[in-house]
Amino acid sequence: MKRRDLIKVVALAPTAAAVLSARSLAAEPASVGKGAVKSPAGASGAGKIPDFARDILDSDMSGLGSDGKPTGQKMTFTGASKANATVEEAMRHKMKLTREEQATLDGKEGKEKARLMKILVKFGNTFGADELVDLGGAPHSNMFIGASYMSSMINMLDECANAGLKSYATYTVNPRPYDVYNVQNNLKDMELIYEGYPLQKKLDYVHARLGAPDLNYRTCACYLKEVGNAPEPGTYVAWAESSAVNYGNSVLGIRTNRNGAGMDLIQAMLAKAPKFGRMTDEGRKAAWLVEVKTTKEPDWGVVGTAIGRKCVEDVPYVTGLDTYFEGGEVTPDNLHLLKAMGSATASAGAVGLYHVEGVTPDAKKNGRDLLVKDYQTYVIDDKEQQRIIDSFPNLWPEKDDDPTAAFIGCPHNTYHEVIKWGKLVTEALDKAGKEETAIPVYMFMANMVRNRAIEENGELISKMKRAGLHATNMCAVSYAGMKGFSDRVRGVTNSAKTRNYSSIRYLPDELLVQAIVTGKFPKDA
Ligand code: F3S
Repeated sequence: MKRRDLIKVVALAPTAAAVLSARSLAAEPASVGKGAVKSPAGASGAGKIPDFARDILDSDMSGLGSDGKPTGQKMTFTGASKANATVEEAMRHKMKLTREEQATLDGKEGKEKARLMKILVKFGNTFGADELVDLGGAPHSNMFIGASYMSSMINMLDECANAGLKSYATYTVNPRPYDVYNVQNNLKDMELIYEGYPLQKKLDYVHARLGAPDLNYRTCACYLKEVGNAPEPGTYVAWAESSAVNYGNSVLGIRTNRNGAGMDLIQAMLAKAPKFGRMTDEGRKAAWLVEVKTTKEPDWGVVGTAIGRKCVEDVPYVTGLDTYFEGGEVTPDNLHLLKAMGSATASAGAVGLYHVEGVTPDAKKNGRDLLVKDYQTYVIDDKEQQRIIDSFPNLWPEKDDDPTAAFIGCPHNTYHEVIKWGKLVTEALDKAGKEETAIPVYMFMANMVRNRAIEENGELISKMKRAGLHATNMCAVSYAGMKGFSDRVRGVTNSAKTRNYSSIRYLPDELLVQAIVTGKFPKDA
């Protein structure tokens, strides 16, 4: 067995599980889409694609291009390719442990920590790490799905919590997969939720004991000021959640690999991570020079999709974007641009780190020295951007019908985005002489962001609510992954990530506003 295959099955499957769970609500374990990567259930032979999941798109993370053919990229999904290594080589590799680490492995700190250390050492050896490093800042976890197929992981974490283990710092967690207060407050949805996520309460209790704050802090955009998990540049952390890892590595300048769900907390309880991949200088070098040469401001999600498809899990060094960041500064008012692009690179591909010339910290410090010697070049101009948009399939069962709901905020909305969308939609409604949107609009955000919006812009938020815009702190893709969702909902979104993982159709901001106000799918989309 090639090491790449071993890695997929043993170490990294939880990442797929987290993503897939969001795509296929869950109770049934599923291998995914058109014959690509197996979920853990698939790997153990239990998987069979349920009927409702048949049309779910296979992610480009498996190295398939938009034509459905392999791109030739080999990957491990960690953003740290060891694609050509063998199991034998992996088994031979041995990390050096300090005396204290060895003592933990030998059980000095109890049997639970010894087991965690055993997993961590195997993980590090598999990826060729030479040592464990101490973690700083705070962890971010994507253990957010309380579905039955996650039971072994949840039970293991529960045992750790019972033994009194805790994360080394208060940590943030991804949004929960449902919201029975603001969106799914009908019997049909609630039945699906309570059947699909029977372990949610147990998982929430695990998080409370391991050191997560209350549910108001649940979000994938943990780095926002209102949530406060933004470690200093250069800090080693062990985050999970592809969009948070991607933003953290690239914009904050922290050092983390793309961890699978569960590995985040194992490392949090030990306060250590094996140093490899995106945690090393070498692993942060760029294999691609991506030149963005669109004549107008690019569509950030589309550019991210293009980069993800092309670079798969390699690091891109992107030029042509500094003009959208005054003085090269990423601020609360413009960070959503990189959030949109980065999360698309991480979902259309498995990009864990990108550099933007003149903007992101590694690029500001080292410039084009970050490029490897034999880097490749990819140009994204108007034509290429349009080619990517044209490749987005229409997955609605009734292809020519009109939308029934809009989805905004994957990754979760920033405060700036909430206010921007509030103004965009309410002003468009005023102009059209309407008081309510033609279709419900779900605005995904952390409660901490919603609270700030209410406190600072109460009048606008009230107007938004009356008009049909609903704030919710759940995960957008989990909602779109509900059983039977695509039969009931024809969604539209401005999130390239949501598009990538669901049947929801993509629209740029201005056309999305049109669809929200008129209830019609824009003709020129
Ligand atoms: Fe966040 Fe869920 Fe999208 S975790 S990035 S809203 S898939």
